[in-house]
Amino acid sequence: MEKELMALRDAATQELVQANDLSSLNELRVKYLGKKGSLTAILRGLGGLSPEERPRIGQVVNEIREEMERLLAEKTEELKAVELSRRLASERIDVTLPGRRPEMGHLHPLTKTLDIIKDTFMRMGFEIVGGPEVERDFYNFEALGLPKNHPARDMQDSFYITEEILLRTHTSPVQVRTMLAHPPNHPIRVIAPGKVYRRDYDATHAPMFQQVEGLVVDKGITLGDLKGTLELFVQEVFGKDVKMRMRPSFFPFTEPSAEVDISCVMCSGKGCRVCKGTGWLEILGSGMVHPRVLEGGNYDTAVVSGFAFGMGVERIAMLLYGIDDLRLFFDNDLRFLRQF
Ligand code: DAH
Repeated sequence: MEKELMALRDAATQELVQANDLSSLNELRVKYLGKKGSLTAILRGLGGLSPEERPRIGQVVNEIREEMERLLAEKTEELKAVELSRRLASERIDVTLPGRRPEMGHLHPLTKTLDIIKDTFMRMGFEIVGGPEVERDFYNFEALGLPKNHPARDMQDSFYITEEILLRTHTSPVQVRTMLAHPPNHPIRVIAPGKVYRRDYDATHAPMFQQVEGLVVDKGITLGDLKGTLELFVQEVFGKDVKMRMRPSFFPFTEPSAEVDISCVMCSGKGCRVCKGTGWLEILGSGMVHPRVLEGGNYDTAVVSGFAFGMGVERIAMLLYGIDDLRLFFDNDLRFLRQF
């Protein structure tokens, strides 16, 4: 038995000394010390020895085992050092090589446009408020003077959740909601940007688009305030040379109502394809807040008056950047988006 053990130790030691890479070292560890290794097998077989032999042989086996483990550890360190110096000698890192730059994105043209609009009104002292995109028929239509079956509802065909709940077709419902969120007659100067939805789809209409609503209510607000505010807005966004005009129009929630045009940004008002030869481009709807809207917001029409307007963000962006198809904004084509 002891002879056998000594032979095993000599063989193992020799193989260990000769090993010249880390993977053959690992194979040796498995071969001798692993679960099914030869030394482990002997250790397991100790039970078959006589009680006198058992402790002695056991001790020898353990000594061999410890010695092998020590040798394995030494050899591992040695081979690691060899490997490291080999790599240090052969591998070169060029620290002057330029790094790989992460590709930088940028804001979407609609986000930029909205930022410009918000920024312009904020500098005029407007606050930014919001409202729900899933809206009650009451706020979207009824409270704005569009009862069920009103013909003007046809222009804003909607997506209904139930008969009384729909995806809002414009940001105007935020008007009454904002008034109701304040004590009666409390002055208001807000814009409400947000997404709106209509059953429409062509080069100038998408089922989802964005609007910015404006609402100013206070004592003594006049049409002159509306005109001055919008003129300043137009000049800030489109430039000092752009002219603005107001045309009488109709909205159930304003009286009087006006559509606002700017001189064509493509042809400077001479007349071209974009402005259909008229020299003017419509950019928003506006007017003096209708008494029934003020009343719906618990405001007293004998004390305060107000103006309101609503514009389409995509429309403004198309004019700002000279884009002729609104669907380009939503296609996510990088060839388009990279131009901004
Ligand atoms: N809500 C209107 C629309 O979506 C736009 C509008 C017109 C808003 C006149 C207003 C306004 O606040 O006074 O077509």
